Amino acid sequence: MKKLWGGRFQKTPEQWVDEFGASIHFDKELVEEDITGSLAHVEMLGNCGIITKDEAKEISNGLTTLLEKAKRNELNFSVNYEDIHLNIEKLLIDEIGPVGGKLHTGRSRNDQVATDMHLYLRKHVEMVVELIEGLQASLVSKAEAHVETILPGYTHLQRAQPISFAHHLMAYFWMLDRDKQRFEESLKRINISPLGSAALAGTTFPIDREFTAEKLGFEGIYENSLDGVSDRDFIIEFLSNSSLVMMHLSRLCEEIILWCSQEFQFIELDDTYATGSSIMPQKKNPDMAELIRGKTGRVYGNLMSLLTILKGLPLAYNKDLQEDKEGMFDTVKTIEGSLQIFIGMIDTLKVNKENMEKATKEDFSNATELADYLSTKGMPFREAHEVVGTLVYQCIQSGIYLKDLPFEEYKKSSNLFEEDLYEVINPFEAVRKRMSAGGTGFEMVKKAIQKAKISLEG
Ligand code: ARG
Repeated sequence: MKKLWGGRFQKTPEQWVDEFGASIHFDKELVEEDITGSLAHVEMLGNCGIITKDEAKEISNGLTTLLEKAKRNELNFSVNYEDIHLNIEKLLIDEIGPVGGKLHTGRSRNDQVATDMHLYLRKHVEMVVELIEGLQASLVSKAEAHVETILPGYTHLQRAQPISFAHHLMAYFWMLDRDKQRFEESLKRINISPLGSAALAGTTFPIDREFTAEKLGFEGIYENSLDGVSDRDFIIEFLSNSSLVMMHLSRLCEEIILWCSQEFQFIELDDTYATGSSIMPQKKNPDMAELIRGKTGRVYGNLMSLLTILKGLPLAYNKDLQEDKEGMFDTVKTIEGSLQIFIGMIDTLKVNKENMEKATKEDFSNATELADYLSTKGMPFREAHEVVGTLVYQCIQSGIYLKDLPFEEYKKSSNLFEEDLYEVINPFEAVRKRMSAGGTGFEMVKKAIQKAKISLEG
């Protein structure tokens, strides 16, 4: 079939080569952005007298019809027209006749495709920010219900010191807060217009780039036409910001998976977010958490892939750049889906308060308390550490915990011990007293939650 660009060619490519080169099977995702961009472009062509106002009107009407059809999923695309841009142009000409061929005056698919992707990512970054806020709200409300639920905090995955479960959840709130800031900040670079850069060098037509930029809601234009058509930094930034979100989600996934294991039994997931086994009737597997942990790898892969595509690519447009899209679409779908699932998973998560607390009692995560106790009474901390370490060893030998060790034994190891030590090593008290800024003390956690709520409203 004759190509829209077929003038200088003596033969048409074979079908299978066409199919290899085409992008329509994935860039049809950009249909609405493509038509929206064209509508702004054609209005500008009319305003600047590059085509007549009547022609502009006719093209504009044709594009509006196509946009409505696109929304109803009624457009039929063909691989013979390679990509979304040529497909829309062909459909426009079918719709309104040869005047449709004037739409492409003063522009190229190179600035067109870049414009489409800027519009597409702007929309999706806004959606991602909303979803992040949704997940932050879920974390805050789960945290509010569990300020005084205590569990062991871990280092090296060994019980370290008791903490509030709310404090643990809120750690993720702040990670997501940084993620949100990164996305919001990236909008500055996403929301600029490459349209009018044309193929690479600008155009001889008296176009008005500011007009199209403003019409499309962009905050400015690319200063350099070569940069305008070959920049994909904004997509890399999106992939990188998404990788960070996925990394954070994946860490929480891992904790959720551990917490609902028989070994921990700290939480139970709602049935919606778990699956059974086809062979083992007793199983309830945390599939969604595992899947999101797994999908994190894909998102990292998409980032590495685009960085590699861009590496060493000469200016300006090269067909390599067509490879920027699938990873971007895949990442958008993955991050939006993962955040959505996460909101539901956190909202419906049941917390096994008793088991969490039990874990703080049947261990030595209160040993630091005892060392701090001695050092407040004047013993150098290093010495206190040694005394308590020896007591811990003694307990392990007799199969008991610090709370079970008789007072005489304490007295034997240091005169500084008094009966109030048993109160001090109560894990609940240990948490309550950690009132340093950003610490896990209940009152501190309540304050942090208030601060978080204000930041969500702001
Ligand atoms: N489908 C192409 C892409 O996604 C559109 C730009 C094509 N430009 C060109 N000169 N071949 O990159």
